[in-house]
Amino acid sequence: MNKQKIWLSSPHMSGDEINFINEAFNDNWIAPVGPSVNAFEEDISAYLTEFSESKITTAVLSSGTSALHLAMVILGVGPKDVVIVQSFTFCATANPVIYQGAEIVFIDSEEETWNMDPIYLENSIKDLTKQGYGIANQIKPQNGKGYIKAIVPVHLYGMPAKMNEISKISQTYHIPIIEDAAESLGSKYGGLSCGSFGDMAILSFNGNKIITTSSGGALVSKNNQYVNSARFLSTQARDPAIHYQHSQIGYNYRMSNIIASIGRGQIQVLDERVAQRRANNLRYREFFKDIACVKMHSEPNNQFYSNFWLTAFILDKENSNNLTIEIIQKEFLKENIECRPLWKPLHLQPIYRNKQFYGSGICERFFGNGLCLPSGSNLTDSDFDRIFEVLSRLFKIM
Ligand SMILES: Cc1ncc(COP(=O)(O)O)c(C=O)c1O
Repeated sequence: MNKQKIWLSSPHMSGDEINFINEAFNDNWIAPVGPSVNAFEEDISAYLTEFSESKITTAVLSSGTSALHLAMVILGVGPKDVVIVQSFTFCATANPVIYQGAEIVFIDSEEETWNMDPIYLENSIKDLTKQGYGIANQIKPQNGKGYIKAIVPVHLYGMPAKMNEISKISQTYHIPIIEDAAESLGSKYGGLSCGSFGDMAILSFNGNKIITTSSGGALVSKNNQYVNSARFLSTQARDPAIHYQHSQIGYNYRMSNIIASIGRGQIQVLDERVAQRRANNLRYREFFKDIACVKMHSEPNNQFYSNFWLTAFILDKENSNNLTIEIIQKEFLKENIECRPLWKPLHLQPIYRNKQFYGSGICERFFGNGLCLPSGSNLTDSDFDRIFEVLSRLFKIM
């Protein structure tokens, strides 16, 4: 096959990253500490704070997964406790709960945003307290259970979750939110940044994200103490002593100064990248507008502003003339074009098959019938010609 690969979402450098890297080399800051680490943290904080009710601070880390893990550690998640997690997501959202030896319960998605359904969330809390799980400072645990320690909603593919409803439930039941904003940097809900709603939120800068540092992540919060704890724990929890002393188990999770240098170049163009991904989404939307069997992942109303990290759709198999997601994927593959099925719900994953699930199976239906289309901010007109040639053939648009 000679055709150049079209990726689902590939890195898109601004050109300035290399200058920051050179600066780090020139000053010999080749370590998980240095001016770029500090500057990138300030850049992220400023970006999120611009559309937030209060000031956000940031700890940059080695990955989004490590940020989620530290958030669990900081909230004291441990054996016997339970954490409530959106099922329709990547495994990294849930795995850190297991690192801490705690239980997980999974929540279905609602139809509009594809994210955590607030109704099932509330049902799960009522049910878990009946099972004996406690709530810190509110309800004592019973039956050998621990506490309901956190709620973890996700803004899938950039689409904000219904944070008004979820935040209200969090406040009513006094359960903190860890917001998984790995895919949603630049998205907003009610005019406020995704990543600014939770008690803590996490970001990812992995290779396919809207901005990337190759690998990397961040823990952000309005609560400075949480962020300071993340910095402390991510650098092996070293006590303030002249020798090496440790009163707590720490981790080697801090971001390197070289990686942060890439981030400084990337965040300068974040708004441009959001605009480019939203423009991609519009192109697809225009293409599918008269195709009744395709339902695009869409902003439910003007409260929602997605970065459209990935453009995704659901195929109505009953009315698709025998066209299936598998056929579409195969045809794209033949043309060396990458696309991807929607996340397999975590409660269906072999590792999580025995976990409690609250829902009616909406995310299962999405999984079986949905696809993510090439969505990179660096797609060219000729890439789109190739993508639309395949789609036109499949959907018989001549
Ligand atoms: C929803 C979600 N959560 C968490 C992560 C984990 O981030 P990382 O790959 O930086 O560890 C990712 C992406 O990889 C993700 O898509």
